[in-house]
Amino acid sequence: MKPNKTNLYSRRQILAGGSALALTGAMPGLSLAATTPEYDFLLKAGTSSTQILPSNWAETPLWTYSGECPGPVIRAKQGEHVRILVENGLEEPTTVHWHGLRVPNAMDGVPHVSQEPIEPGQNFLYDFKLEDAGTYWYHPHVNSSEQLGRGLYGTIIVEETDPPEVDRDVVWVLDDWRVSKDGSIRDDFTHGMDISHGGRMGNYITVNGQLPEPLKVSANERIRLRLINVANARIFGLNFENHDAHVIAIDGHPVTPHAPTNDMVLLGPGQRADVIIDFVGEPGSKHRILDMAYQQSVNELQDIEYLDASPVRKKPLGPVKPLSANPLKEPDLTQAVHHEMVISGGAMSGMRGAVYKGEQRSMRELMGEMKVWALNGVTAHTTDMPPIFNFDLGKTYVIDIKNESMFPHPMHLHGHAFRLLSMNGKDMPHTPWMDTVLLTGRETARIALVADNPGDWLFHCHVLAHVQGGMTSLIRVA
Ligand code: C2O
Ligand code: CU
Repeated sequence: MKPNKTNLYSRRQILAGGSALALTGAMPGLSLAATTPEYDFLLKAGTSSTQILPSNWAETPLWTYSGECPGPVIRAKQGEHVRILVENGLEEPTTVHWHGLRVPNAMDGVPHVSQEPIEPGQNFLYDFKLEDAGTYWYHPHVNSSEQLGRGLYGTIIVEETDPPEVDRDVVWVLDDWRVSKDGSIRDDFTHGMDISHGGRMGNYITVNGQLPEPLKVSANERIRLRLINVANARIFGLNFENHDAHVIAIDGHPVTPHAPTNDMVLLGPGQRADVIIDFVGEPGSKHRILDMAYQQSVNELQDIEYLDASPVRKKPLGPVKPLSANPLKEPDLTQAVHHEMVISGGAMSGMRGAVYKGEQRSMRELMGEMKVWALNGVTAHTTDMPPIFNFDLGKTYVIDIKNESMFPHPMHLHGHAFRLLSMNGKDMPHTPWMDTVLLTGRETARIALVADNPGDWLFHCHVLAHVQGGMTSLIRVA
């Protein structure tokens, strides 16, 4: 489906802000400078102060897209083409990666692999078709630990042609921040302890860039909640006390509607889940949403407050129906070629050494450079590296990922979605499509995919301090 021009202009004007701009909508051609390419969405990476802390604190200086945290929501329909202009108003290079979207390689936003970094003051036009419906997000792929850790990220929603019946569609971008006593973001982005252990954990949690506010609901209301974990390292595990959650999509892709395992929607960094909840509580009642990801602590994330009013309908809506599948190629397991990816390193790992810059190095040498993580015995020093696997275009591959370390790693593949076949040797009930699979300490995962998108694609850990520690690999599809 082609978007129509009028829509594009109105969308652009809205994103550009203010009513003054709405007036120029009458002659849209004039609002564009000669050197600015045409676009549907504009993202201006820059600095701005935002109220992420409670209101009795000062605003926090952040790095944001178009002055907002999270950045502007990009919403379009499945099948549409979008043109997104990224302007770099930072004092350092950046790029934007469209996490989970299956885009052509040149649009993937990986510096020195799919494009040159966007220098300060420069722009880059990303232009691609939205193949899959679902919940996605965008973020830089340069100096990621710091650029994301200071607030650069945003949501992409690709609407289904036949969306499910819900009363509200709500997005929750989950993040944590490492804030110092004066309310600013701590600048210890290369802390060795974070790199060699569990990553940069924050001390302050936000939902949509703010202290979580109570979710106000009406009795018998049905909400689609789109959950996105954009944190540098924190895992979230949401429990909706007294409410049944139905997971309908994982990492954007539809899955047979099911209750979350152990009553908890578990999200590693980078992962998303779409859940449908019928709010069947009593008008005026209060409930909690808990975060139970870490055994040692159960936090209350936020409250659910029922309005003291009559229910929106006599009875909740009927059973939750599955979404229509995205156009993904089904792996042919009878023909699959098998590979193994071994994760080693980190503190207390017993890793002896690894190949770094083409040479075998001892653990002591690697520690000196803080390159303490390896994938199949190689620790990365750049994104532009020899491929860990060469895949033939169109073939099915099965990869056994083995986490030999003590720490969790959400492993993210660019340009493709894969089916998660099993975890720790146990078949997955719904073999969900994913772009990021979370392996906690010593876990194994078996994934399968059709290598149908040509190019060089990163396969890396989404704990961003681990990326600094060398935990990146590249898969070549040709
Ligand atoms: Cu969301 Cu390569 O990252
Ligand atoms: Cu990791």
